[in-house]
Amino acid sequence: MARCPQVWLLFLAILFLVISVQNSQARLRDENGVKSGVFLSPKFVLEPGSVANKFYYNIDFPRGHISIKEFNAEVVDEAGNPIPLYETYLHHWLVLRYYQRKGVEISNFNDNLGFHQSDTIIVRNSGLCEAGLSQYFGLGSETRKTATHVPDPYGIEVGNLAEIPDGYEEKWLLNVHAIDTRGVEDRLGCIECRCDLYNVTEDEHGQPLKPHYVGGLYCCYDETRCRLRKGFDSAKRSLYLRYTVKWVDWDNSIVPVNIYIFDVTDTWKRSDQSTGLSRRHDCAIEYDIESCSTSMVSDSCNNTKRVSLSLPTGGDVIYAVGHQHAGGIGSTLYGEDGRVICKSIPTYGEGKEAGNEAGYIVGMSTCYPQPGSVKVSEGETLILESNYNSAQRHTGVMGLFYILVADPSPKPESILHAPFEVYEKLAIPNFVWVIALFGTAVAIAVYGRRTRRENVYQSIVM
Ligand SMILES: *[C@@H]1O[C@H](CO)[C@@H](O)[C@H](O)[C@H]1NC(C)=O
Ligand SMILES: *[C@@H]1O[C@H](CO)[C@@H](O)[C@H](O)[C@H]1NC(C)=O
Repeated sequence: MARCPQVWLLFLAILFLVISVQNSQARLRDENGVKSGVFLSPKFVLEPGSVANKFYYNIDFPRGHISIKEFNAEVVDEAGNPIPLYETYLHHWLVLRYYQRKGVEISNFNDNLGFHQSDTIIVRNSGLCEAGLSQYFGLGSETRKTATHVPDPYGIEVGNLAEIPDGYEEKWLLNVHAIDTRGVEDRLGCIECRCDLYNVTEDEHGQPLKPHYVGGLYCCYDETRCRLRKGFDSAKRSLYLRYTVKWVDWDNSIVPVNIYIFDVTDTWKRSDQSTGLSRRHDCAIEYDIESCSTSMVSDSCNNTKRVSLSLPTGGDVIYAVGHQHAGGIGSTLYGEDGRVICKSIPTYGEGKEAGNEAGYIVGMSTCYPQPGSVKVSEGETLILESNYNSAQRHTGVMGLFYILVADPSPKPESILHAPFEVYEKLAIPNFVWVIALFGTAVAIAVYGRRTRRENVYQSIVM
């Protein structure tokens, strides 16, 4: 029996099938209709001081016409252990939605400029910046303790075939920017991407940096290295972004929300009535904080940056959260009449364990207004304010604000709760995948009766 090549082939094929299903699908659960999947990014390798800024196209992601309810992430090692921020600082991760022309492959996983417009269309969020900040989801060091849940009856609608252009399919892109700060000379300087510590005078594309650019994303691009303490030596290691998505199948009782991302560096100004000039939303994404000891206005070491913005359409605010870097002391979005739409305050860690690293922002408080209680109107002037403690200088900090807005006139709530039930199950696309693979395995085994073994084996391992 065991000598029979067909049996071995079938065994190998099934083994291959099991391994590939485990790899691609990760863990999936279904809890009262809310599905969740835990996925791993491709592996990235870091060594002390080094930076990874990777772009992974076509990542594992739930498929079909669905409503996304939650997206969480963290950096883990090969054994699945969470890695603390003082070892691997998670500068940011971003998840972008795009349409890919069928039959066209993107082969260069590291080229963020690799989009050929006709083959790949980024599906931007609802605004406001003209360039950059087009993600659906994205956070940084605060990711472990920041709520991202979208409450019922709301959801982020994706995968609606009626919206996807003919000949295209929806895919997802993940950008991970991580800095290995084991053994570095100046941890804060490295995570704030200070150009001198990276010994960088040109950006990633070989362009000289602007004269007063002392730190930020242009100095800590992929494969740059932050200065280490003398004699520090430690091995490379392989890491992953482990991300958890929760979703439900789409149905008409779900109220879709629009994602807006405001940036305090946005240079937009309300167009002047007399000139009718309409301005662009140019967003620098990052900015610097002067130390209050050297700055002219040094009454308090509280650096405040503000911008006024307005939404193209109004609606109900369902969720809001700020994004700040170390030194941040809070960020607030105000309405035109001065009311607080949301105030988001950072939590700083106090210990050593992952999720509570002393000195790092490990979470941002979120706002979940009672639906219908906080509205913004179309064209209303909103003020975004970002406050930093300026006792010391900071470079490359951020002041972003995410808000989810539903069209007004929400449907009356009538959510029935089915009995609580937890079970592991394969989502349908994976189930289909298993049948397809199993069919292939059987076909290969049958084909093996008539073909030389070597050829078949090659076709299995590809
Ligand atoms: C910094 O970069 C310059 C030019 O690329 C190089 O000559 C020099 O050795 C580098 N210094 C360090 C400390 O790596
Ligand atoms: C910093 O200044 C802003 C604007 O004046 C104020 O709203 C905020 O409460 C201040 N923060 C602290 C911690 O003093």
